[in-house]
Amino acid sequence: MTRLSVNINKVALLRNARGGNLPNLVQVAEDCEAFGAEGITVHPRPDQRHVRFDDIPALKEVVTTEFNIEGNPTPEFLELVLANVPDQCTLVPDATDQLTSDHGWDTLKHAGFLQEIIAALHVKRIRVSLFVDPDPRMVEGAKAVGADRVELYTGPFAHDFMSDPAKAMAPYTAAAEKAAEIGVGLNAGHDLNLDNLQYFREHCPGLLEVSIGHALISDALYYGLSNTIRMYLRQLQG
Ligand code: PXP
Repeated sequence: MTRLSVNINKVALLRNARGGNLPNLVQVAEDCEAFGAEGITVHPRPDQRHVRFDDIPALKEVVTTEFNIEGNPTPEFLELVLANVPDQCTLVPDATDQLTSDHGWDTLKHAGFLQEIIAALHVKRIRVSLFVDPDPRMVEGAKAVGADRVELYTGPFAHDFMSDPAKAMAPYTAAAEKAAEIGVGLNAGHDLNLDNLQYFREHCPGLLEVSIGHALISDALYYGLSNTIRMYLRQLQG
């Protein structure tokens, strides 16, 4: 079974546009879970243009499925994560002013840095996932530094899917097979949507979780949040 974790950053972006509390992020998180989401993901960026650091304690209080905090492990980010103890922390190597995440860790080059951070998160029993490109060497590197899981960066897959699905998928299947072989858990995310999700899931053995934000929240404008979550869950079944 592949779990659906809903990334609610875009809900926070809408709220922040007016400075008040509409839409109410905490209520949306609770409702996503009531509608079937199996996890809630947030990505507090250093400029706090989406989910803000001070949103995290209230979300931690209400999320009953799986709370995943993702982000660049700056000292401020790590302090936030260690204080709030989510179920999972996904480490992402994005720059301060980055529009969105667009590459994974080089788990070989940054091995020492990652190992130290993962050890600190493990002291609090937080599961750690590393965002990586679909490269078996990076998956092996993630295992070597102590990561529990990797999250495969699916942006390039989504980009190439329409023109040649098999070619777009091949590196992900290889990375998934490597993860299964060496015993590291497998997540995936970025640009997954109602067109490409089922294909990705069917060709990615052992996929434990996807985190989806942009397309899902955009689809909810048309179908409503409850219907949309059900539609995404259907792509993950079977
Ligand atoms: N995974 C990571 C590491 C991300 O940074 C993001 C975007 O915040 C996602 C998954 C979700 O991507 P999308 O919003 O395109 O579904």
